[in-house]
Amino acid sequence: MSDHQAVLAAGEQIAEWLGALDIALFNAGTCEYLDARHFDMALVERVFTPNLFGTLYGVEAALPLLRAARREGKPARLAATSSASAYLPLPRAEAYGASKAAVSYFLESLRLDLHQEGIDVSLIHPGFVKTPLTDRNDFPMPMQVTADEAAEAIIAGLAKGRLDIHFPRRFTYIVKCLGILPPALRRWIGPRMTRQTKEHS
Ligand SMILES: NC(=O)c1ccc[n+]([C@@H]2O[C@H](COP(=O)([O-])OP(=O)(O)OC[C@H]3O[C@@H](n4cnc5c(N)ncnc54)[C@H](OP(=O)(O)O)[C@@H]3O)[C@@H](O)[C@H]2O)c1
Repeated sequence: MSDHQAVLAAGEQIAEWLGALDIALFNAGTCEYLDARHFDMALVERVFTPNLFGTLYGVEAALPLLRAARREGKPARLAATSSASAYLPLPRAEAYGASKAAVSYFLESLRLDLHQEGIDVSLIHPGFVKTPLTDRNDFPMPMQVTADEAAEAIIAGLAKGRLDIHFPRRFTYIVKCLGILPPALRRWIGPRMTRQTKEHS
């Protein structure tokens, strides 16, 4: 997903095999946490490249296939996995959270432009899901769900045509509410929500 030409070539191959897609879901992503004392642009690029640009390479490759489905009179849906972290900036999540917030903003904006073509856009905002990605985390992950539970929530949300698929709901509603608090309150709460780098704790 980080190789633009490879993703476009995959789209062309799918066009040859299937002709059209009624759904394209982009889920690949990675997470690394920034230590602000050692601002590391290489880390930021390692996170943004698959999370944001990889997703957008996929969108570019998928759009002609989704449009082909519409021409055949079928429904067409674009979907991407963002993260509940897009709702609320957290410590050390500068790169990851911003890459996911960018995915959410980009696709929400694209939703408005694709609406007249009958192509819908769903965003998936998971809380913590137990996967190899979160097994690396060194902080408590409240209300973590299993990968099977996450998959069920995503499939159910897509089947219902939900635009914002977020789970587990108790967790994501709390995060959404915290995300709309005034900045000074978020500055007070944020550091208390995750473990800091050793020297900060
Ligand atoms: N787990 C969570 O709590 C959580 C919460 C919110 C959002 N998410 C998002 O959910 C998605 C899946 O995460 P996960 O928890 O399942 O992580 P994971 O266990 O690390 O799996 C990530 C998947 O993405 C693939 N991938 C990563 N970079 C890629 C690239 N450049 N090209 C192609 N494939 C690539 C990986 O392939 P390889 O195995 O081949 O490397 C792997 O299949 C990610 O977008 C993540 O940000 C996860």
